Amino acid sequence: MAVSIKSKREIEIMREAGKILGTVLNNLSKEIKPGMTTHRIDQLGEEMIRSYGCVPSFLGYQGYPASICVSVNEEIVHGIPSKKRILHEGDIVSMDAGVIYKGYQSDAARTVGVGEISVEAKQLIEVTTQSFFEGIQFAKEGCHLHEISNAIAAYNESHGYSVIRDLVGHGIGAELHEDPQIPNFTQERRGIKLYEGMTLAIEPMVAAGGYAVKWLDDDWTAITADHSLSAHYENTVLVTKNGPEILSLVEE
Ligand code: MF3
Ligand code: CO
Repeated sequence: MAVSIKSKREIEIMREAGKILGTVLNNLSKEIKPGMTTHRIDQLGEEMIRSYGCVPSFLGYQGYPASICVSVNEEIVHGIPSKKRILHEGDIVSMDAGVIYKGYQSDAARTVGVGEISVEAKQLIEVTTQSFFEGIQFAKEGCHLHEISNAIAAYNESHGYSVIRDLVGHGIGAELHEDPQIPNFTQERRGIKLYEGMTLAIEPMVAAGGYAVKWLDDDWTAITADHSLSAHYENTVLVTKNGPEILSLVEE
């Protein structure tokens, strides 16, 4: 399918959706403390999303049973919230959420520490986050998709980390997952040319060890095969002639 170019009206709605999602993730990040369950994160997140008149887009998506994907430590993405999973001081927790507002989607993720975390964990989160910003410099009309992928990969690999290959970013709009797929690892093919009005969910998933993935028996949770720590950072981004506009990031 061709990659869609959003109209002014669609972009305006996606800006609103992104602002809501960015605010939800900021507020949810502040709630994270040792002793809380991953179920509680999902419950708070769903309440926040609905309080803005949005629908949590992950709930029921291909059977996913929650509103927020909560992935702890070696879990990369798509962790299922549970009343039995308690967060401990020193853990790192990735929160991935999607909202639907007036028929349009926004998708974003943050990884935060639980209480005090190790220097190694802090660096993994910082490098993963920065790699997103390295990549989106190329979310600009006239660039090719592989420039985003390659910049994300190079930044993470220069720090000795691996980017996950089994999971990728994606176009986004009326649907959560639209074309194109956006790998975070180095691409030989240059991929599509980018144009103003494309909206992309760019989401580096990074491991401190190797990139091999295993899936838990719940069929959702992806973990690092070597059980090394993993972080995830994502925003919905609009391509413009002058560069990226990050729709789902609300600066505090
Ligand atoms: N951000 C995730 C992605 O782009 C969405 C999670 S899929 C769901 O794949 F099933 F959990 F909703
Ligand atoms: Co996504």
